[in-house]
Amino acid sequence: MTEAGHSVVSVDDFSTGMSDRIQHESYELELENPDAEKELARILKNHHIETVVHFAARKQVGESVQKPELYFKSNVGGLLNLLNAMKTVGVKKLVFSSSAAVYGMPDVEQVTEQSSTNPINPYGQTKLVGEWMIDNAKVWGLSAISLRYFNVAGTGWPDLADKQALNLIPIAISKIRDGEPISVFGDDYQTEDGSCIRDYIHVMDLARAHIDAIPQLKNPGNEVFNVGTGEGSSVFEVLTELKKVSGIDFELNVTNRRAGDPPKLIASSEKIQKALGWKAEFGLEEIAQTAWSSRGF
Ligand code: UFG
Repeated sequence: MTEAGHSVVSVDDFSTGMSDRIQHESYELELENPDAEKELARILKNHHIETVVHFAARKQVGESVQKPELYFKSNVGGLLNLLNAMKTVGVKKLVFSSSAAVYGMPDVEQVTEQSSTNPINPYGQTKLVGEWMIDNAKVWGLSAISLRYFNVAGTGWPDLADKQALNLIPIAISKIRDGEPISVFGDDYQTEDGSCIRDYIHVMDLARAHIDAIPQLKNPGNEVFNVGTGEGSSVFEVLTELKKVSGIDFELNVTNRRAGDPPKLIASSEKIQKALGWKAEFGLEEIAQTAWSSRGF
C-alpha cells in the first residue's frame, strides 16, 4: 500500500501479526471488544481515513470448527464495530477480506461469483455474514469490494515472510525444519490423486488486487470478486513442488480427512480480470520457491 502511494495506519490485535514489522503508525486493539467501536471512530477521524482495508480476522478452517464462538465473536463482532465506527465518522469506502470458504462444496470445475454460497464451516459462515453486513451498509452509502481469497501462500518480501504455520505450505516448511513427516489430510477424496484440490494464489498477486480495488470504490453497494488463479493443485502436487524447490525428499503421512474440508475449490477469475484488469502473475512454482527461500532457517 505504501509503495502504491497510500498513506497507511494499521489497527490489529497482533495476536498473530508482528507490530515490529510495521513502519507506519499502528494501534493495538481487539476489534470485537465493546469499547473498540469508539476507539476505531477516533482513529478514523484523527487520521482523516478515506478507505478501510479490513484484513483483521481469524482464518483457520479447522480451528473454526472447534471454536465457532471465537470465530463469530472476532470476525462478525469485529466487523460490526468497524462498520458502526465508519458510519459514525462518515468513512464510506471499504475493501473486505472475504474467502473462497463462502462457497462450501461447489460441484463445478471453477466457481464464479454467481455460484451459490453454502459455507460448510464456521469460518466460511462468518465471511458470508460479513459480506451480507457490508452489502446492507449501502443504505448509509458504503461502497465496498469483497475479495474472496482462495489459498494464499508464498512470500513477497523475505523479511515479511509468514512466521505462523497455519496453512499447508508454512506447516510443511516448519515440519521439514523439525525433520517430521508431513500430514496429508485424506487421500480418499473424489479427485485425481485422492487429496484435496485448492487454487493457490501468491501473496504479492493478492496484495495487488487490493490496490487495484481501491479506485473502483465509487458507488454504494458490495461488489464481490474471486481472487484466484483459475488453476487447481492437489495437496500431493503442492508437496511435490516443495520437495523440488527444497531438494529434500521429506516423508508424507496420510491421515484421516480434516473436518470442514471441501474436496475441490478453484476460482474463475474472469470477473476480476474484466472489472479491475487484475490477473495472477505467479503460479505454484514461484509460491513454493518464495516460501522456501524465505523460510528463516
Ligand atoms: N492440509 C494437509 N495437511 C496439513 C495442512 C493442510 O493435508 O498439514 C490440506 C488441507 O486439508 C486442505 C489443503 O491442505 O486440503 C489446504 O489447507 P489449508 O489449511 O492450507 O487451507 P484451507 O483450504 O483449509 O483454507 C484456506 C484459508 C482460508 C480460505 C480457504 C479458501 O486458510 O482462509 O483457504 O480455500 F478460506
